[in-house]
Amino acid sequence: MIGRLNHIAIVVPDLAAASNIYKDSLGADVSIIHELPDHGVRLVFVELPNSKVELLHPLNDSSPIFAFLERNPMGGMHHICYEVQNIYKAVESLTRKGAKILGDGKPKIGAHGKPVIFLSPKEFLGTLIELEQV
Ligand code: CO
Repeated sequence: MIGRLNHIAIVVPDLAAASNIYKDSLGADVSIIHELPDHGVRLVFVELPNSKVELLHPLNDSSPIFAFLERNPMGGMHHICYEVQNIYKAVESLTRKGAKILGDGKPKIGAHGKPVIFLSPKEFLGTLIELEQV
């Protein structure tokens, strides 16, 4: 069911400093800072030849990643996003197999303007998984 790795999201304590690490130390192609108020984050996209990394920072204390940063003050990997062809079929199949979809269980429009869901890490080896329809 899952296809390409779409992105890995890393929560960082300082977005400008994190951008510089990826740009200067790792020599990556890093975007400008984008603000996504609907998602409660500021982020930069790191473009890799075969995928993307997103460096995220909470926009305010009601951000969904605010508590994560409090628990992981140095930052850390937050989620991994796989592509699926049909998000509704994915939801149906995963629900049937006992996976829990976070929130109300319905796809939402994600940071790339496409429908996404998040799967509870409990059933997936402690990793928060995002599925994005492409
Ligand atoms: Co994501």
